Amino acid sequence: MADEVIRISNLNVFYKNRKRKLFSKADKKIQALHDVSVTMEEGEVLAIAGESGCGKSTLARAIVGINKDYTGEIWQKYDRPQMVFQDPYNSLNPAKKIGWLLEEPLRVDKERQWTKEERRARIEEIMKDIELPLSMLERYPSQLSGGQRQRVCIGIALMRSPKVLIADEPVSALDVTIQAQIMELMTNLHKKLGISIIFISHDLRVVYQMSDHVLIMKNGRVVEYGKTRDVYRNPQADYTKALLKAAGIT
Ligand SMILES: Nc1ncnc2c1ncn2[C@@H]1O[C@H](COP(=O)(O)OP(=O)(O)OP(=O)(O)O)[C@@H](O)[C@H]1O
Ligand SMILES: [Mg+2]
Repeated sequence: MADEVIRISNLNVFYKNRKRKLFSKADKKIQALHDVSVTMEEGEVLAIAGESGCGKSTLARAIVGINKDYTGEIWQKYDRPQMVFQDPYNSLNPAKKIGWLLEEPLRVDKERQWTKEERRARIEEIMKDIELPLSMLERYPSQLSGGQRQRVCIGIALMRSPKVLIADEPVSALDVTIQAQIMELMTNLHKKLGISIIFISHDLRVVYQMSDHVLIMKNGRVVEYGKTRDVYRNPQADYTKALLKAAGIT
């Protein structure tokens, strides 16, 4: 059996209730995840699927340490994973050039001092990985297309060679043709770098193409978890069957 890189046991995640009425009890919490357990193996692509609001991003943010209010256990073999977000338009500082943005994770690296030459070499390497010409290092985010910006976001996440990458709906803000290109890039990077990827999507066709295991969620709970092929061939939960049917798959 492959090594585990992440093991989540009985995870419950809470948010503060945003709608606080004047005379109601303060600090009432909303529970967004209920008793979620899942493991991830080294080098695999684990998909998290389910309809909007089911808790996919909540789970991702708990794993990377953004959602801190939880009970249960999140065990990780490596440092926290890097994350790529849905919207490449809002996740890049518009005032900085692409070269500066890619360099930033190295400048703030607490584990290692990078010389100027090392930083430049790493940036050039990553530009190859994300398949962008070096001339784009001098541009601002607004001078790039959505797909190019998402490539930059992926590049920033990869700068310090993380062992695990979490991509939260990395293509849903992009045009369909660009979506396919970014998915292909992610597949290539997965093969080339051997990293483990948590891939969040509500597109069950893409999930089938991309993932080794799939976690299906509904209302903050795990509905089904297994090898993607097995789940698609022989779904156990009625909810999974309905999702596959709605996607035109079964
Ligand atoms: N910061 C927050 N404060 C309060 N509730 C939140 C917060 N973020 C998310 N929620 C709630 O937690 C639940 C899960 O949200 P989450 O964003 O994880 O869903 P999702 O599966 O990622 O949905 P989508 O596919 O639309 O991105 C939802 O009911 C949502 O309204
Ligand atoms: Mg989400």
